[in-house]
Amino acid sequence: MRIIFTFYLEKNQVYIVVQKNNKNGDLNMCGIVGYIGFEDVKEIILSGLEKLEYRGYDSAGIAILNNNEVYVCKEKGRIAKLRERIDGNISGTVGIGHTRWATHGVPNKINSHPHQSSSKRFTLVHNGIIENEDELREKYLNDVNFTSDTDTEVIVQLIEKFVEKGESVELAIRHTMSELEGSYALAILDKEDMDTLYAAKNKTPLLAGRGEGFNMIGSDAMAMISLTNSLYEIEDKEMLKITRNNIEIYTIYGNKVSREPYKAEIDASDIEKGTYPHYMMKEIEEQPFVIRRIMSQYSDENGNIHMEPEIIDSIRACDKLYIIACGTSYHAGLIGKQFFEKISGKPTEVVIASEFIYNMPLLTEKPLFMFISQSGETADCRAVLVKVKEMGFKTLTMTNTKGSTLAREADNALLLYAGPEIAVASTKAYTAQIAVLAILAAFVENKININVFQELSKIAYTMETLCDDKDNYKKLAEKYINNSHCFYIGRCMDYYVCLEAALKLKEISYIHTEGFAAGELKHGPIALIEEKTPVIAVITQENINLNTRSNIKEVKARGASILVISMRKLSQETDEIVIDDINELLAPLAAIIPGQYLAYYAALKKGCDIDKPRNLAKSVTVE
Ligand code: G6P
Repeated sequence: MRIIFTFYLEKNQVYIVVQKNNKNGDLNMCGIVGYIGFEDVKEIILSGLEKLEYRGYDSAGIAILNNNEVYVCKEKGRIAKLRERIDGNISGTVGIGHTRWATHGVPNKINSHPHQSSSKRFTLVHNGIIENEDELREKYLNDVNFTSDTDTEVIVQLIEKFVEKGESVELAIRHTMSELEGSYALAILDKEDMDTLYAAKNKTPLLAGRGEGFNMIGSDAMAMISLTNSLYEIEDKEMLKITRNNIEIYTIYGNKVSREPYKAEIDASDIEKGTYPHYMMKEIEEQPFVIRRIMSQYSDENGNIHMEPEIIDSIRACDKLYIIACGTSYHAGLIGKQFFEKISGKPTEVVIASEFIYNMPLLTEKPLFMFISQSGETADCRAVLVKVKEMGFKTLTMTNTKGSTLAREADNALLLYAGPEIAVASTKAYTAQIAVLAILAAFVENKININVFQELSKIAYTMETLCDDKDNYKKLAEKYINNSHCFYIGRCMDYYVCLEAALKLKEISYIHTEGFAAGELKHGPIALIEEKTPVIAVITQENINLNTRSNIKEVKARGASILVISMRKLSQETDEIVIDDINELLAPLAAIIPGQYLAYYAALKKGCDIDKPRNLAKSVTVE
């Protein structure tokens, strides 16, 4: 454990903040899966892990129970590598698996999961951070020889210790849970019991899946959906005892919980790539369909907007809306602010979650906090949610993931209906966020009489037309984006598109890309322009067309290679990508599509791993 002391001065007082920082086992952004049934478990666990690989792909491991022996295999790197390494002769009908995104600890084999107790009776995978591991080592495990220095090993050793002291396995797990401080989703095997899979959860996602003759657990529905869509939500500090025919849920005190499963609304085909070479390509091309689905989800029988009255009332009642988000969702939030201010006249501020928590803006008297998060699990957002709830403020989450932590913990939730987004780089969730924000703003108050559904219908069609032009984007990406730097420039709504398009390009192609407000270029960034530096300009707003055009001239004069994405009515003959005329306020929905493709093809040309870019994870559950 590393302790970080931060000193700061406020109102003539010195404050000391003490943070515990786990040195090696802080595996909070990982995926876990478990199965007990009659089928051979190897393939089930591996394909479950592949569905969870978006949660991290630094290392992977599997444990299979057979004839009261446990086979463990773990590998640094991707699940494909684990697949190659697994002994083909191993079989079994009970197993657990893990895929890891390393935060502070090196992603090596020793630190990979599963971890085992000293006698190897218990085998465990863990997603989370145990904050009091040092205290637990000292209090209970002085005589134990640890094989790794992960916090996870403390959990599995503790269970064994309590069992050695005479506790039943169930009691030992609950006892261990009561000793743990921090977050965990656990799947546990006992090699002396071939008929039970144990699991536990606190502050980290975990679901259980009920099947015919089998049962499962997984970090999310996607890990199980090809086998079952009958799922149980698991609450914090609950323990599961799972057999082939039964899922028993217990509180930490051992009281049995009765809970009905729910039906996950995910089609197994939603999470397959089909004929697409990458999920990212599939998800880009699903965008027109997603926009239409959102319209149908948020309309009543007369085709008018329908949203939960409580949500609308809470926005109408607030004196300012604070949008809190990270990454791509933050970029959608910037556009959302324009909708709320321009369509509904509601003052709105957008704050990056990780900034808000340490640098809170001056709040109004009656704020409403809206969290935008595709995954609904982002730790930075959750930290703000917890804080503002403590302060007594109302909260709303906009998410693609029903039942996610942010959806459950906020007062209300609005769904995106984008379908599962698998590629780490977000595409369809981003446009879904913008579409839902536009509908929401227009329903709260429509000061400009925009017919959002009519505009969105046109945009869905325009998106299709843009997707049909992908060969052009491929050629353009190959021609222009061949430098170690690239810049997107635009003004107003176009500027927000530039921020997102730049993020897409940098995250999947590793080409250093920035999105600039075109008018700011001359105040610094123009110093970066050299002969052949690619500059991509976005022009969809009539009021700034000429201004951005002059900024283009400025960089052109300094040698930049220019590529222009413009709206037809504003286009010039030399513009490389032209978008059919659509409502300007909603134009980002279409203007981002060429940017998504340009990123895709630039990454493809460089041979990058498009769906799983280096160092990133889709669901970031560490602060
Ligand atoms: C990660 C992902 C980004 C995403 C961000 C916010 O950084 O790599 O693609 O935009 O998290 O995620 P959220 O699930 O909260 O929208």
